[in-house]
Amino acid sequence: MITFHKNAFLIQTRHTSYLFHVLPSGHLEHLYYGHTLSGVKSYEKIVSHDRNWITAKAIEVMDANIRAMTPVHSFANGNMISYSDDAESLCLENRCLEMSSFGKGDIREPFIELVYPDGSSTCDFLYDSYVIKDEIEPLETLPSAYDENGISEADHAQQLVMTLKDKKHGTVLELIYSAFPDCDIITRSSKITFVGTEGQDEDAVVTVQRLMSTQVDFYRTGMRMTSFHGRWADEMHRTDAVCDGGKVVNEELAAGESGSRSNPFVMLSNPETTENYGDCYGFNLVYSGDHYEALSCNYVDSSRFVSGIQPTGFAWHLKKGESFESPQAVMAFSRNGFNGMSRHMHDFVRKHITRGSWRDKERPTLINSWEASYFNINQNSLVNLAKAAKQCGIELFVMDDGWFGHRNDDKSSLGDWYVNEKKLPGGIEALANKITELGMLFGLWVEPEMINEDSDLYRAHPDWAVQIPGMHHSKGRNQMILDLTRTEIQDYVISSMKKVFSSGKVSYVKWDMNRIFSDRYSTALSPEKQSEFMHRYYMGLYRIMGELTKSFPEILFEGCSSGGNRFDLGILCYFPQIWGSDDTDPICRQSIQTGYSYGYPGITVGSHVSGSPNHQTLNVTNLDTRFIIASFGCLGYELNLCDLSDKEKAEIKEQVDFYKKWRGVLQFGDYYRLGDGRCMVVSKDKKKAVGMVLQRDRFPNRDMDIFKTKGLDNDTFYHMTNYVNKLSLKDFGSLINTMTPVHVKENGIVQKIADKVVRMSGEKEDISATGGIFNECGVHLKTAYGGTGYSEDTRVMRTGDARLYVFEAMDSQYKI
Ligand code: DGJ
Repeated sequence: MITFHKNAFLIQTRHTSYLFHVLPSGHLEHLYYGHTLSGVKSYEKIVSHDRNWITAKAIEVMDANIRAMTPVHSFANGNMISYSDDAESLCLENRCLEMSSFGKGDIREPFIELVYPDGSSTCDFLYDSYVIKDEIEPLETLPSAYDENGISEADHAQQLVMTLKDKKHGTVLELIYSAFPDCDIITRSSKITFVGTEGQDEDAVVTVQRLMSTQVDFYRTGMRMTSFHGRWADEMHRTDAVCDGGKVVNEELAAGESGSRSNPFVMLSNPETTENYGDCYGFNLVYSGDHYEALSCNYVDSSRFVSGIQPTGFAWHLKKGESFESPQAVMAFSRNGFNGMSRHMHDFVRKHITRGSWRDKERPTLINSWEASYFNINQNSLVNLAKAAKQCGIELFVMDDGWFGHRNDDKSSLGDWYVNEKKLPGGIEALANKITELGMLFGLWVEPEMINEDSDLYRAHPDWAVQIPGMHHSKGRNQMILDLTRTEIQDYVISSMKKVFSSGKVSYVKWDMNRIFSDRYSTALSPEKQSEFMHRYYMGLYRIMGELTKSFPEILFEGCSSGGNRFDLGILCYFPQIWGSDDTDPICRQSIQTGYSYGYPGITVGSHVSGSPNHQTLNVTNLDTRFIIASFGCLGYELNLCDLSDKEKAEIKEQVDFYKKWRGVLQFGDYYRLGDGRCMVVSKDKKKAVGMVLQRDRFPNRDMDIFKTKGLDNDTFYHMTNYVNKLSLKDFGSLINTMTPVHVKENGIVQKIADKVVRMSGEKEDISATGGIFNECGVHLKTAYGGTGYSEDTRVMRTGDARLYVFEAMDSQYKI
């Protein structure tokens, strides 16, 4: 709910408040963002739309509150700039502001930087007017959050547009706030318009050198910024830095994509905040290009956070009447630690970012051909893989790279989106028919933003590739990028993809993007507009993604950029899931997925079971662990099932059946990080839950382990069981000789025969207790193997072993 009292604006969600007011000078002073300032009763009154509650008394109280929250500076501070002779004690440097700029005394990190036609760069945006809207208007040029609840819902989303003007130069700045009360999210974006002034040259140009999406000032220092970094196949490692003075920056400087190096999602918290306790702010950007997030601190009084498009290398030129809008920033707050904030972000992404027919549908289990056979594919091998997958209960078959042009490796054919008939006689249609006849869905891989020099497309249109005329172009994975700033190239991509997607029964598309940017340049842009290239690329890409997702509403799209090199809310506005990483090693994956979980729900992360030894690390892990970890994302398989034994395929069938039963909880429930590689997901109604334990290091003689949960209802009685892990005689090596009458040689014939005949399974848990016991005290798991004994009930947890536990609420008679 957004309300306005005198000169103050309150944005209220269920559990957070955001407050600012207009100073007598016209500047917008930020007063507060954090845990709700109103009690539950006042909130109910606010959302009831009963304007009568705003009595004279209430306004008086509000006035008093705002007076109490406003800093008092009676004199100008030393070595600071007084804003004006009329307001001598107003020094912009020591106020918390809603937006700031250089030139009038605020010398901190700016929200906006403009160069005016006269060459000056001092801005002074002062309040002009406001509008509160009862529905969310989308951004015009970029993807943004939406609200489907409509105005009938008590706490439906609303928008506030604050208009500020710099009259001297004829520029108008709109600060746009949206409140999504149901998930405690506030979004911000901004728009600058060059209106011009009387008598000004008609060709005058204002250069936007930076326009941030959000700025939040805090009257405190020493905040901790947490950001997520990595590289190819090694994404989302958490890093913490406390800012006591100076600046902490998270940025993607020049990759040209949101990036594995630095994801745009960051958190601010107190250094003492933990997973479950303490204040935590989450910030993200609905954007896929280079970005910038910075927490700076002027040592004594305050800190400032800004986020938006990366200003380095960026400049946008506005003629009279033109506007530029920043991407939308997403802001969450929780006083229940990182976990509390993550759950707000997850709900928001699921309800207000992802969209389309797949948003609320359970995602299918899939088999992907990439790690099964890489480029070495043909109709026969693919159909055989699909048949094996069908036997395992897998629902969707995905043909990855290698099906088009003459692509037998990564050196050619990107851009030539016609089928290689030698590999696929009868084309996509024939293959799709064979797959769908098996009772499976069919999907395929494309990389539409790219072009190889060795392609018919390049031979016909060499100028379509991003490159600087006369200069050699540096490649990534042997490929170049199509200049998507140009409408005719966007149109080509749209029409070529439309042909591919309608060439058979295509239910799923994996949209890949396998290089970062270099040699940025568009032959269609004038020299001064080359600084607009990167942003124009994304405007072009978003147009393409928008058209295609509108034309093929039933297709499930999965984004990918060599894994998670472009994992962000911009992509998620079109594609409801993204391939999380090219690293499919489950132990590494658990860290990567934990990194994503801070800002993104599991349903947005593609996650596959692959072969062992793993292709990226050569680590060996058992099939159970690979399944358990992958099941916390959208589960797929990516290995040659045809080469597996019947026993292994039977195990996979069991996994898939198990996942289908529990994926409603895993994909749509509330997620909790439990620490130490553990996590759990609880259904919204708290009747079901799935938990996971990972043994990172195994030591002998440690037989006890307690599983302590989060999120179960303390008063409900639950039954906990487990996915029963598989064991084999081989797992015991030569130790088996302590129990057998004859000597069994390791890997010898006797061991092999015995291994086939003797069926062994892991321990079975069967624990019933109230949620309070599970959450507050934790329950004791079966004895772990520790080197001193073994029975059927022993929990064999070697380094790298995982367990999956499921919880079901018992009949209501057990409810306390
Ligand atoms: C990179 C992706 O991340 C992989 O999964 C695979 O699709 C390859 N590209 C294909 O070239």
